[in-house]
Amino acid sequence: MTRTPVNVTVTGAAGQIGYALLFRIASGHLLGADVPVNLRLLEIPQGLKAAEGVAMELDDCAFPLLRGITITDSAATAFDGANVGLLVGARPRTAGMERGDLLQANGGIFGPQGKAINDHAADDIKVLVVGNPANTNALIAQRNAPDVPAERFTAMTRLDHNRAVAQLAKKAGVTVDDVKKVTIWGNHSATQYPDLFQAEIAGKSGFEATGSDQAWVENDFIPTVAKRGAAIIEVRGASSAASAANAAIDHVHTWVNGTPAGDWTSMGIVSDGSYGVPEGLISSFPVTTKDGKFEIVQGLELSDFSRARIDASVAELAEERDAVQQLGLI
Ligand code: NAD
Ligand code: LMR
Repeated sequence: MTRTPVNVTVTGAAGQIGYALLFRIASGHLLGADVPVNLRLLEIPQGLKAAEGVAMELDDCAFPLLRGITITDSAATAFDGANVGLLVGARPRTAGMERGDLLQANGGIFGPQGKAINDHAADDIKVLVVGNPANTNALIAQRNAPDVPAERFTAMTRLDHNRAVAQLAKKAGVTVDDVKKVTIWGNHSATQYPDLFQAEIAGKSGFEATGSDQAWVENDFIPTVAKRGAAIIEVRGASSAASAANAAIDHVHTWVNGTPAGDWTSMGIVSDGSYGVPEGLISSFPVTTKDGKFEIVQGLELSDFSRARIDASVAELAEERDAVQQLGLI
């Protein structure tokens, strides 16, 4: 059976993450090995030539699933009929900055792109915002797209989720596929709360499997995951790219194809008020996905420690929302 190609728009296509992302989309890792794709590459005018170079390399791979490439600096053209939008294009932070410091520089990108999605994307559009600060940029895009259901706008905390899984597997001495039900709560920032208390590791609770060591949780595990982005910038000299692209692939693949039984994932999504997170904020939650839809995992019992950590990260999201409101971006 010949399938209709899915239109995938990638912004910032000539950047580092774009370079690590596009070849995997074109080879079937985003949506599935039997799903043909059209790539729509959005860049600013100065990035168009480099995007053309990337497109030449994509051609040279002769990917059987890649049906077309459009390169443009027009958001209206890039999102015309888009089924999936990966909003990567934004400035990365450099050493010494927090991700929130990018709001002023990057916030202005996401309103016009939200509007272009609103006016031109396909009815089933799914959006993942990667560009930092990802949660609040996703909020800006979502608020500028009033005709698109709010749940179609998501922010990436899958990289934090994957980082947490890797740290837990190392500590517990197991392989990553033994680590289930990890959650990133809140903001993709240093306040995020990577939660191992709900996790299951090779038949034990996450806490037990890692030695029942509260000091390790507080002084090692949580800061290692939450500050991993800064650590990569310091050691690599540039912000994470291949792991970020990999997480974007994982996020969309899981959204479209479902979470495995007995596990969940973490996604930044518009809050419906669950777990006391104010409605409308884009915050990370534990979610299961099925048939292209997600649901927040309900009924988890949170300790005072977990509650306080979630509240602190959510308070930061509320501050970022107020800041972009003052800037007139939402
Ligand atoms: P980069 O500087 O290598 O590439 C960014 C690209 O975006 C550039 O080619 C630039 O020309 C383009 N761009 C800028 N404004 C644009 C616009 N309005 N429309 C279209 N394209 C535009 O940066 P990178 O390393 O690829 O990182 C991109 C973003 O992703 C950064 O904000 C970074 O902080 C963020 N990031 C997020 C996560 C996460 O987990 N959420 C992880 C890693 C990086
Ligand atoms: C990351 O988590 O690696 C990215 O958000 C880049 C950064 O600024 O930390």
